[in-house]
Amino acid sequence: MINSIKKDNIYHNLYDGKWIISDNTIDIFSPIDGELIGKVPAMLKDDVNKFLENSKLSQKHWELTSIDSRANILYKTAKILEDNIDEISEILMLEIAKDKKSSISEVKRTADFIRHTADTGRNLYGDFIQSDSFPGFSRNKLCLATRVPLGVVLAISPFNYPINLSASKIAPALMAGNSVLLKPPTQGSISALYLSKAFMMAGLPHGVLNTITGKSSSIGDYLVSHENVNFINFTGSTKVGNHIASISNMIPLMMELGGKDAAIVLKDADIEKTAKEIISGAFSYSGQRCTAIKRVLVIEDIANNLVDALLNELNQLKVGLPQDNCEVTPLIDSNSCDFVMNLIKDALDKGANLVTGYKRSGNIIYPTLLDNISLDMDLAWEEPFGPVLPIIRVSSKEEAIRIANKSQYGLQSSIFTQDINDAFNIANKLNVGTVQINSKTERGPDHFPFSGVKSSGMGTQGIRYSIEAMSRLKSIVINI
Ligand code: NAP
Ligand code: G3H
Repeated sequence: MINSIKKDNIYHNLYDGKWIISDNTIDIFSPIDGELIGKVPAMLKDDVNKFLENSKLSQKHWELTSIDSRANILYKTAKILEDNIDEISEILMLEIAKDKKSSISEVKRTADFIRHTADTGRNLYGDFIQSDSFPGFSRNKLCLATRVPLGVVLAISPFNYPINLSASKIAPALMAGNSVLLKPPTQGSISALYLSKAFMMAGLPHGVLNTITGKSSSIGDYLVSHENVNFINFTGSTKVGNHIASISNMIPLMMELGGKDAAIVLKDADIEKTAKEIISGAFSYSGQRCTAIKRVLVIEDIANNLVDALLNELNQLKVGLPQDNCEVTPLIDSNSCDFVMNLIKDALDKGANLVTGYKRSGNIIYPTLLDNISLDMDLAWEEPFGPVLPIIRVSSKEEAIRIANKSQYGLQSSIFTQDINDAFNIANKLNVGTVQINSKTERGPDHFPFSGVKSSGMGTQGIRYSIEAMSRLKSIVINI
């Protein structure tokens, strides 16, 4: 699969169906051991102009392609990903230090996502509306509302799911008849180029998907304010999301941003099951998931029991290298480790109890559990994006809801209880995109609506919702 996208360890960008390089490159080192994995082109502003011009032209042809043909290309893409799952998951593991099992499952999930998107896209229709249901109108008007594409979608994905969160933008955008320019995360760009190769191998017409790697400091702002971009579909940090929103010149935006998902544990929770869910939710891929559980709000009466059960589960996590299938692996870079260690230090300085962890070896941070976190500690509010879980003890459900909602973020929350009335009452009061009852927070299954409020994003993803967001209803009214 790899040969056409790489030469002399330099990966190429996809432009108008060809794989091209640039004079400058960026070295991509593995977070596992610092070894050079490859180089990717550092594209510049002139390339942005050229690529977007091509995306614009190609879209005009693509929107005339039948929905059935688009779906068939997506089915083929899914099959190619599955046929090459070993090669792709290997590079993913090396590039972002995601454990082998999760890397394989990211590729498999992406194939499933693409197939489901094709199924959904071919079953989405417009509307046929009569005028006489509105006061004052007879049946003299008929509205035919058809779903039409927006044009060129700029897809920007984050490092933690460079394949899945690129495909979750590309596939629905293509089904809706848009062309896509993919700007992958720099750390993760090689994996994303493999994904793009799969689309090409499936027969996607030239220019309908282009990729542009490069330093966001040199092309980022230029891309997101470019006149040839008709929609920006961004996943990443709240800081970058805010920045893009402030300079994007009224280009419509969809944003999946940061989170501080709370697990609220009530007195009657099943402690063993709750602890399993919380530890898996907090520490898989070392906590580098937007939907990771990033704080526990537990009723004081059962807090000691919960802490014991959490520690018991945490001790079963394997810490080490992704190729050895450890759950807690090196973080994406050394700066991220420094950030997490400083959050822990701040909490300890202010009186938190260290239950376990606070140990670093290179880019590996050992899973860290902190009890008695108080609201003056940064860890109560900041998104660490690392393997640390703060426990905040509360005296009542109302206090849990108040603290949960005080966060600047509003992605997901979990509630652990045996009382369905409590679960629903609390769920109704939480200001988040999704509430999980008796489960960890998580995005999937990927056809469920997925959204964040406040600093966690705007717009709703999820297969059907993503296709709808990247298309619009165009009305033709027949006057009889
Ligand atoms: P990030 O630093 O914000 O980067 C995200 C993407 O934006 C990368 O492709 C990055 O490119 C690009 N970028 C940076 N500055 C840009 C600019 N000025 N213009 C255009 N693009 C720009 O985020 P990350 O560290 O990759 O990902 C972690 C964050 O993403 C966490 O906060 C996490 O919660 C969030 N996230 C949210 C969701 C969700 O669904 N809500 C899902 C996954 C991740 P470079 O890599 O080249 O800088
Ligand atoms: O990092 C953000 C992803 O959208 C989370 O997906 O819950 O399946 O890990 P996940």
